[in-house]
Amino acid sequence: MMMNRKDWYLSNQSGNDDNSNVPLQLCKIYLSKYKELDNKGKLEFKTYLNTVVSELTPSCKIPKVGTTSYNNIQGIALFFSMVAKSGLIFNDSYRSLNIKQHFNDCIDESAIMRSSRSDRNETFRSTYGGEASLNFSSNANLQKELEDKLGFEVINSGHNSYLYYDKECSSINMHVDRKEYEINVLVKLSHTFKNGQRSKLILWDSNLGPIENEIPIGNVLAFHANGTIHGRLECADDEKITLLSMGFVPKQIDL
Ligand SMILES: [Fe+2]
Repeated sequence: MMMNRKDWYLSNQSGNDDNSNVPLQLCKIYLSKYKELDNKGKLEFKTYLNTVVSELTPSCKIPKVGTTSYNNIQGIALFFSMVAKSGLIFNDSYRSLNIKQHFNDCIDESAIMRSSRSDRNETFRSTYGGEASLNFSSNANLQKELEDKLGFEVINSGHNSYLYYDKECSSINMHVDRKEYEINVLVKLSHTFKNGQRSKLILWDSNLGPIENEIPIGNVLAFHANGTIHGRLECADDEKITLLSMGFVPKQIDL
């Protein structure tokens, strides 16, 4: 019988059942609980763990290695990596993709949409993406780049958004995205600062822990957002960032 990734990982850690690997033990507990649940229960359980991660990382402050909070997040990161695809897909220049026009159109659209932005989030603001963002996400070169890297076909979920980190000390706590952003493609449209550049995207690697990722203007960064804990470090006082986030999902849904 073929061994799946989760079974392989756990069987290779079988000698570690003492207190030396708290995250792994937590992960095992989460997995055993998870497999007893029906689909609705599984979704609720993942939502609960997502809330735990968010509450442990106010303003995206990362706990110190070895603390209870860090171990909890590491255990949850391991869990998410075993029930969903996780990790960075690429962070490359878009110039070869010939999508400069989309980039410019989305800068214009994000400026227009800024006036209708939502204020319901306390630490950053967002709006739905409009026609320019949908044109960007249906670009054949971007689609091909994603599919070449992933090895399977994807489709835009119809959920795109503009993210404005333009309040004082804007940030977003660590979290995983909902299914509509299973594969999240991020493009930084603008980034201004006078006295310091501080904010970076954090992707929590299930083995290595939190990793800082810079998205230079001119790059497209894609990652498995439903299975990777991620957040954005607090901006400096005068730092402002606008991002386009495009949601993709596999064309073939696993049953
Ligand atoms: Fe997110």
